[in-house]
Amino acid sequence: MAIDFTMHIPQTDVIAQERIPQRKLYTGALMPAMGLGTFNNDRFSFEDIARAVYGALRIGYRLIDCAAAYRNEKEIGEAIAQAQKDGISRESMFITSKLWNDKHRPEDVIPTLKQTLADLQLDYLDAYYIHWPFRNTHAPGAQKEDRHPDSRPYCHELYMETYWELEKAVDMGLIRHIGTSNMTRVKLEQVLRDARIRPALNQMEMHPSFAQPEFFEYLRSEGIQPVAFSPLGSPTRPDRDRDEADVPVLQQPAIVEIAKKHGIHPAVVCVKWAVQRGQAPIPFSVYYNEYHSNLKSVTEDPLSEAEMKEIEKVDTNCRLIKGVVFLWEGAKSWKALWDEE
Ligand SMILES: NC(=O)c1ccc[n+]([C@@H]2O[C@H](COP(=O)([O-])OP(=O)(O)OC[C@H]3O[C@@H](n4cnc5c(N)ncnc54)[C@H](OP(=O)(O)O)[C@@H]3O)[C@@H](O)[C@H]2O)c1
Repeated sequence: MAIDFTMHIPQTDVIAQERIPQRKLYTGALMPAMGLGTFNNDRFSFEDIARAVYGALRIGYRLIDCAAAYRNEKEIGEAIAQAQKDGISRESMFITSKLWNDKHRPEDVIPTLKQTLADLQLDYLDAYYIHWPFRNTHAPGAQKEDRHPDSRPYCHELYMETYWELEKAVDMGLIRHIGTSNMTRVKLEQVLRDARIRPALNQMEMHPSFAQPEFFEYLRSEGIQPVAFSPLGSPTRPDRDRDEADVPVLQQPAIVEIAKKHGIHPAVVCVKWAVQRGQAPIPFSVYYNEYHSNLKSVTEDPLSEAEMKEIEKVDTNCRLIKGVVFLWEGAKSWKALWDEE
């Protein structure tokens, strides 16, 4: 059944494109400095998420972060198609998707990408990420302690086999940029050595409690735009990604204090901080008020330099999305995924 996108959007809620900060990629292409995430299958239906994508496009979002693994690209495709019918041009959008771990074999890459394009009802993607640098998968609903018997540590030769297929996809006009995701500097240095077409984006967890300053600066020095996932500390993430020691980002006193001063939600402080720092955050929400205030926040009332410095102190190197379900048998801890062991 077709999704009902009927929605009353007051004209005064629409945010003019020229007010939204842009990032210039090394190709010269422009990308909005913030976008909408589309993953949260645990709590929301695919239709809810598609309606949020439609509403977001209508109020001014143009960067939409998708992935085949989120299993909702068909519904999001309907939202994108409806937005185009309503006059939002494809060229003004920046649509990204991701190749899932079980489709890394070279012969699978282009057919999988074509399926994503068909689902999203698009001829090309603005960027296509390799979602994780491993072929490791997990069963639906996997718990922390589950290990897939085929899981292996990072193998650069295998990664490049996949990456070179993305280079072919650029040559074929199916994608405009290549993105890496969940990488480390150690892995990325090898990719940059062996790539013909450099990645333009790197998607990574980044929020005030996990700012990754060295990796962030390294990416910028290499002309790769850092895209921040879980920019609000992912308060609604699945249970398998929760640990007792995790920091609740939105409750950090410095963030709460700044939020009070500006009369905004702590989540909005995180969005402002991310954009002012030079990231491209992709916060998720299906709630109109939330995704509207997130976008609006980057067009007004910036944080002061002193506030930006206060937020720097919130960083405790607290990774939330540790990827435990991708570990192999015998791995000591999730740190092995991040080259820390
Ligand atoms: N590359 C990867 O491996 C990877 C991994 C994770 C995520 N991602 C991408 O990044 C996106 C964002 O990350 P995320 O969903 O993990 O976390 P997030 O964006 O940090 O947090 C999302 C949650 O924050 C709350 N929120 C959003 N705006 C708010 C506002 N203005 N005021 C109050 N609360 C607000 C919402 O909770 P309520 O619903 O309770 O209001 C929402 O569910 C994903 O959707 C996905 O597209 C990519």
